[in-house]
Amino acid sequence: MISQIDKVFEEAQTTISSVSSRVDFDNARSKILGPNGIFRELMKLLSDLPKEERPSMGQAINACKNKVEEMFENKLIEIEGRETTASFGQPIDPTLMPISNEEIFCHPLTKIKNRMMEIFSNLGFSTVEGSEIETEWFCFDALNTPESHPSRDDRDTFYFGKDVSIENVSKKNDEQYVLRTQTSTVQIRTMLQRKPPIRILSPGMVFRRDAIDATHYPTFHQCEGLVVGEGITVCDLKSILDFFFKKLTGENSEIRIRPSFFPFVSPGFEVDFRSKNLGKLSNRWIEICGCGMVAPNVFKNCGYVSDKISGFAFGMGIERLAMLLYGIDDIRLFFQNDTRFLKQFKLSMF
Ligand code: PHE
Repeated sequence: MISQIDKVFEEAQTTISSVSSRVDFDNARSKILGPNGIFRELMKLLSDLPKEERPSMGQAINACKNKVEEMFENKLIEIEGRETTASFGQPIDPTLMPISNEEIFCHPLTKIKNRMMEIFSNLGFSTVEGSEIETEWFCFDALNTPESHPSRDDRDTFYFGKDVSIENVSKKNDEQYVLRTQTSTVQIRTMLQRKPPIRILSPGMVFRRDAIDATHYPTFHQCEGLVVGEGITVCDLKSILDFFFKKLTGENSEIRIRPSFFPFVSPGFEVDFRSKNLGKLSNRWIEICGCGMVAPNVFKNCGYVSDKISGFAFGMGIERLAMLLYGIDDIRLFFQNDTRFLKQFKLSMF
């Protein structure tokens, strides 16, 4: 009987080692371990043995069967591994470091965003995220933007419709959700949650119903800054922006501020900058950033009542900065994920 068990084991071993596909595997498994397989036959032979020998022989058969089952399991792992490689290629280890930074690429918008966060974090700013879906109150009313303001028109803003309700985002009955049109919403969210002093930067995606062309895209990115505290002045605003542009585009860059209007700041300004390092645009004044002192109504809407508190806010477009700094002339390139475009932006260079 023992020699029969050994023979069955050898036969199983040879069959399993010759299996190379899933079909072979299934056939071999049923021939060896199936209801009419060779182990079943072996078991039947037990009844011909004298009673006392049956238990030990039964155990020997089972031990052999266990070993064969294990061999089948290993074979299956081998076949599945081969199938995975055939469909997905050689496995990669995503934790391995590339050979050098020269071979890592980084989306130009991410590069600018990271650089902005780095410069501002050296000035004590922390980064805060807002929400891309907002209510009309956060996007407009709290920012002192009346119902009649043109930016609230549904030809400019994406509205969700009055019936839509979104879990965990509360809104008043007659209000609608919107896709935020500006990162200035983060000013409100921050001031509602925190007391001054505040020094935050908030990069993120914004949405406007713009027709697509070389300089417009319905989604783009802005970066908002907000500083609130005692004794904050326009002088602080100007020196912080001056510092930022010098760090971003070189010590020989300059800024100037001109009066402008945004409902949530008073006074409001437009910032122009010029730099010798901008290729074709070298030393030309370029409009780049909206800013101003936080309007009293905005403070009031956020529950800030102290007369001593003042602050400033600024906001700029990340695509616009990237286009100027890298000489990109079409905003659509940022969203096409064309590797010929993306491969120009190595992580190692700015
Ligand atoms: N949110 C303004 C825009 O989208 C920019 C801005 C931000 C202006 C902060 C003033 C203060 O154009």
